[in-house]
Amino acid sequence: MKQMTERVNQILEEVKNFQGDAEQFRLKYLSRKGVLSELFEELKRIPADQKKEAGRQLNILKQTAEQHYEQLKALAENQPAATEIPDLTLPPVRHTTGNLHPLTLTRLRIIEIFERLGFSVADGPEIEDDWHNFTALNFPENHPAREMQDTFFIKKNRDAQGRNRDVLLRTHTSNVQIRLLEQRKPPVRAIMPGRVYRNEAISARAHCFFHQVEGLYIDYNVGFADLKQTLYHFAKEMFGQETQIRLRPSFFPFTEPSAEIDISCLICKGKGCAVCKHTGWVEIAGAGMVHPNVLRNCDVDPEEFTGFAFGMGIERVTMLKYRIGDLRLFSENDVRFLRQFHTVIS
Ligand code: PHE
Repeated sequence: MKQMTERVNQILEEVKNFQGDAEQFRLKYLSRKGVLSELFEELKRIPADQKKEAGRQLNILKQTAEQHYEQLKALAENQPAATEIPDLTLPPVRHTTGNLHPLTLTRLRIIEIFERLGFSVADGPEIEDDWHNFTALNFPENHPAREMQDTFFIKKNRDAQGRNRDVLLRTHTSNVQIRLLEQRKPPVRAIMPGRVYRNEAISARAHCFFHQVEGLYIDYNVGFADLKQTLYHFAKEMFGQETQIRLRPSFFPFTEPSAEIDISCLICKGKGCAVCKHTGWVEIAGAGMVHPNVLRNCDVDPEEFTGFAFGMGIERVTMLKYRIGDLRLFSENDVRFLRQFHTVIS
């Protein structure tokens, strides 16, 4: 036992004065074949009546050694790496500046074109109630767009009178038409860019969220010719002066008559290619004359005022303008894609 106490004291001294790095220390004292393991082996052979005291001493030694090891490690971490002389002839790391997202570039360009025609920019909420997204826009109660497959509902709800009080993510920017007309009386001439949500499977051509720009012009004597001329002007400004437009009859609950707007294919110039599916035309917007019911729902007299509305997808315009083949690129944020827009100034 006496021998053991002496050994422990001697090693305690050694530990405290150890010269070397943490790893050397660990190998010598704390590893499986280290000094401490050896001592614990010896402990087994010590007579039973002395074991308790010997064990206590050994544990003190072990704690001290472990603390010392931690200190040596901490010391090494705070030390600067081996003195390396920097190579002063290396070229500096280039500072790269960020750039605007392609969808932002398109949005800004669309706003610029319409601002020159006297349109202001308005905004509205993405979390919307049934009234502003559907009912006020003349959607019948059983319209398929109100189905779960198309719309993300936050809350399905009926009030005490049985009225629809659903809360949902807006499926189009047309909700801002209603909000605008509730706030101010015509004349109204505004565009409304924003994010919209639809319950669609994500693919190269569809996403569960995307962006639209809505346009609304209400005044005395606004006619279909104004709509056509406005969108023709937009198409030429956005895609080039040689761009043609074509209107096809269509249907939206909130416009009558309604039309789908196509532009001549930018890629094949109307000759027919994969992008336009060999028709020479690609669709860019929905539009029409605001339905009298919509005006009435906003306390605007349809006998006094008329107007047009249109809506287009910002992704779609961007894909056509920059020839992008996959919608998912816009939200994946791969810098190799985004950096390509570095030199594009809006
Ligand atoms: N809201 C329609 C859509 O999302 C587009 C549209 C807007 C059509 C305005 C006509 C008038 O498809």
